[in-house]
Amino acid sequence: MIFKDWYCDIMSKGGKKVSECLAFSGGFDKSYDFLNLLNVIVLSLDVDGRVVFINRKGCEILECSKEDILGKDWFDNFIPKRVRGEVKGVFEMIMRGELKPVEYYVNPVLTKGGKERVISWRNTILYDESGKIVRVLSVGEDITQLELQNRTLRVLYELTRGLVSEKLEPLARARKVTEMCVKEFGVSLAWIGRAESDGSVRILAWYPEDHDYVKDLIIRWDDTPYGRGSTGRAISKKEAIVIEDVTLNGGFSPWREKALAFKLRSVASFPMILKDGVYGVLTVYSDSVGFFNEDLKEIFQVMANIAASALENAFLFEESQKKLKMLQALRNIDLAITGSLDPNLTLNVILNEVIHALEVDAATFLKLNTWTKELEYVAGRGLIGHRIKDRVVRLGEGIAGKSALEKRILWLEKFDEAEPRLDVFEEEGFVSYVAAPLISKGRILGVLELFARKPLEIKEDWLSFLEALTNQLAIALDNLELLTDLEKANVKLFQAYESTIEALAKALELKDRETEGHSERVVALTLKIAKKLGLEGDDLLNIRRGALLHDLGKLAIPDSVLLKPDKLTDEEWEIMKKHPVYAFELLSKIEYLRPALDIPYYHHERWDGSGYPKGLKGEEIPLPARIFAVVDVYDALTHDRPYRKAWSEEEAIEYIKRESGRLFDPKVVKAFLEVIEEKRK
Ligand code: C2E
Ligand code: SIN
Ligand code: SIN
Ligand code: FE
Ligand code: FE
Repeated sequence: MIFKDWYCDIMSKGGKKVSECLAFSGGFDKSYDFLNLLNVIVLSLDVDGRVVFINRKGCEILECSKEDILGKDWFDNFIPKRVRGEVKGVFEMIMRGELKPVEYYVNPVLTKGGKERVISWRNTILYDESGKIVRVLSVGEDITQLELQNRTLRVLYELTRGLVSEKLEPLARARKVTEMCVKEFGVSLAWIGRAESDGSVRILAWYPEDHDYVKDLIIRWDDTPYGRGSTGRAISKKEAIVIEDVTLNGGFSPWREKALAFKLRSVASFPMILKDGVYGVLTVYSDSVGFFNEDLKEIFQVMANIAASALENAFLFEESQKKLKMLQALRNIDLAITGSLDPNLTLNVILNEVIHALEVDAATFLKLNTWTKELEYVAGRGLIGHRIKDRVVRLGEGIAGKSALEKRILWLEKFDEAEPRLDVFEEEGFVSYVAAPLISKGRILGVLELFARKPLEIKEDWLSFLEALTNQLAIALDNLELLTDLEKANVKLFQAYESTIEALAKALELKDRETEGHSERVVALTLKIAKKLGLEGDDLLNIRRGALLHDLGKLAIPDSVLLKPDKLTDEEWEIMKKHPVYAFELLSKIEYLRPALDIPYYHHERWDGSGYPKGLKGEEIPLPARIFAVVDVYDALTHDRPYRKAWSEEEAIEYIKRESGRLFDPKVVKAFLEVIEEKRK
């Protein structure tokens, strides 16, 4: 090594010659020209710290000419302020002989351009003949890059260890990365932002935490002025973007003043790239112009990549939690719909789920009245007052009306005069508002409104969740509505049926004048016994219908027979015995009355099999008919007939008791007697 030879040469020749040589300040002795060939800095300072010699490599690193350096105070001009005191202190102690020369010493130097380089020094002290210290001679190696690599490795090690082992929240992870950027790589500010699908950049974490520059910083990554900074371009171009000097033109306009106020002079943004695109960005700032050299760019890109993968897992987890929550909400809504018969209850359950899942404060459901073209309040949760319930919104009016008309989700962060329910919203303290149309089979059913009393952050996954919810909701509501429509139709039909039946029964009574009120009375008594015997539900409905219509067949019996005030002849009796068959023929043609046929058809069958029209015996006879037979005979006996006078109740009861087990089912008679007993009390 040339340097080593030279060094040995100096040392072997003793202090005198060396001191003479070094005293020559013009450019060193010609014989030391070769020092300019060395790829290390050769520097000599006098006892006051002034430069008496520097070689070409030294000039190169400091970005100065020899003349710029020679004679200057080394520490004041070439040592960064933050370490100046310490480095100079060490130097002075050596010069005073208080400290042995430090063999190996690392400190940064400051270039003319304001950059720092890290230099590893080897020093030796030169004495004059009297043994007095006159010079320090240093040989320095630029280890900036090496040092950076070491630091990078250390940081990466620390980061990956921390991020993998510690169960850090996504935001804590992001913060850790920004902290490393500042603490280890000398930037003044670092932040990590997420590229949202709406073109905005959401700042997730920054360091230093108390740095006010990030407050209210608007940054985008779309084609707006806010998207043309390093951040926006780094995200859209998927590559690192450096702005060497924020004062120069080239895409820093919206932030220039603010950046300068915070002494931020250069910016660099590094995309955080994941498998399926750019996740976000790492943006770092320095207080010096041109801070971001190639090495640093590489390092920050690595930091950005680490941040990306560290955040990815965390966010994937968050994402899946959200999806789970959404599925649960959808499922709960499904359950509410299938499990409840009360549409209003169902709506309330649905709105609760919606509020919970979408993290809003209140929700209402407005139904479109297709006649008036107005949206009417149907249900709401989370409301404080009641006034909103009385307000209708015309189609096309306000956000809700517009959302229904245009069939798309609309939202508003601030309410304005165009909103017809402004007063109510203000009263409720709502600040954010979203209206989502409920569309089923292309038809607008209504609008789901969401309200928040704090500003709502509307993000893409939130919106797609809302969309899924409203789709499901619309189908469900459509079905509910169908159901209620059907139910309504059924009620109407039911009422129509019932009045038809009653009309028929009345028609018979008009014809068979003497039995007036008979059908009403037998219905009441029959139902009481039937309930006593454990019948319920539809059976009771059909018993009621059957009892009302039991003698409908008598409509087909000629008046001469039906109204005969005397005993019937055999032929007449044959005709009369047909009335249950006529009833059957008439009523079986009506679908909904078929289950009610037991009584009209079998009410003259007898327990012992001696009845008509089939001669059924015992339990072959349907129970409703067995019950009714008792009631019918009791009521017939206790009322006048054209062919005889009414019996007393006691006589009739005696008759029933006597015929129990012969004409009548004993179980039914027992129940009948109980009911009669209760009635008499
Ligand atoms: P209804 O008058 O409503 O009588 C219904 C049932 O009550 C009769 O069914 C019978 O089981 C019982 N019942 C009614 N009156 C008497 C009675 O005086 N004595 C006894 N032991 N039981 C009585 P039934 O017998 O199958 O008759 C069916 C329908 O035929 C009667 O309905 C009535 O409309 C008619 N009917 C029966 N007997 C005569 C009669 O002698 N003269 C006339 N004109 N009609 C009769
Ligand atoms: C020293 O530490 O002795 C001086 C090193 C330098 O010149 O910066
Ligand atoms: C950017 O260039 O997009 C960053 C703007 C800033 O933070 O000042
Ligand atoms: Fe009858
Ligand atoms: Fe009868």
